[in-house]
Amino acid sequence: MTNKAPIVAASVLAADFGRYAQEIKDIEAAGADWLHIDVMDGTFVPPITFGDNMIRTARQTSKLFLDVHLMIVRPEQHFETFQKAGADRLTIHQEACPHLHRSLSAIRALGMKNGVAINPATPVALLSDVLEICDLILIMTVNPGWGGQAFIAPCVAKVRELSEELARRKLTVPIEVDGGINEKTAAECVAAGASVLVTGSHLFGSSNRKETIAKLKRS
Ligand code: DX5
Ligand code: ZN
Repeated sequence: MTNKAPIVAASVLAADFGRYAQEIKDIEAAGADWLHIDVMDGTFVPPITFGDNMIRTARQTSKLFLDVHLMIVRPEQHFETFQKAGADRLTIHQEACPHLHRSLSAIRALGMKNGVAINPATPVALLSDVLEICDLILIMTVNPGWGGQAFIAPCVAKVRELSEELARRKLTVPIEVDGGINEKTAAECVAAGASVLVTGSHLFGSSNRKETIAKLKRS
């Protein structure tokens, strides 16, 4: 467990796209730390969301750190495009990357932070050989693809397992959780070692976003 307040990453997937830029300004004013942008390709996950155009608009609209979550196959084809659009971090899925070490290194070589994500059915042990070259590890707490899904509670044990392994290796890589995060599940994840909370529907659907962010930061 960490004593610092967790970082709140607002997932714009839950924003009103008709007011996309205004929603970003609103969430920044409410105190979000990062913008989390979910890129989906219709292959790695069933839905198709958005590409570099939406990242560029977010970059032009906000100064917040752009935490881009790539739920796409062959993500390395797009690293440069997303970097040019203004991404600060690209997080790729272990399940989509046969050459994970190379892909994580390529993101850093383009001057961005990298991240690696694992689905609920993927064991933490599969990241063992890349922990030393990760800037962030994302433990999915739902199966990726949609906002508004129910939190998968056994994933908390994976956060704890990873946190212990990082401590054992004296690594300070932040652990991010994504999916079904609200005040209750956030507290469970932070207690297990998470320090970045992605929140979509809970935050954008709340009537007082500022208060919702403040509560999450007290997790
Ligand atoms: C799901 C995405 C999430 C999603 C979270 O595949 O990776 O970032 O927006 O949405 P909520 O917070 O509604 O579960
Ligand atoms: Zn995400």
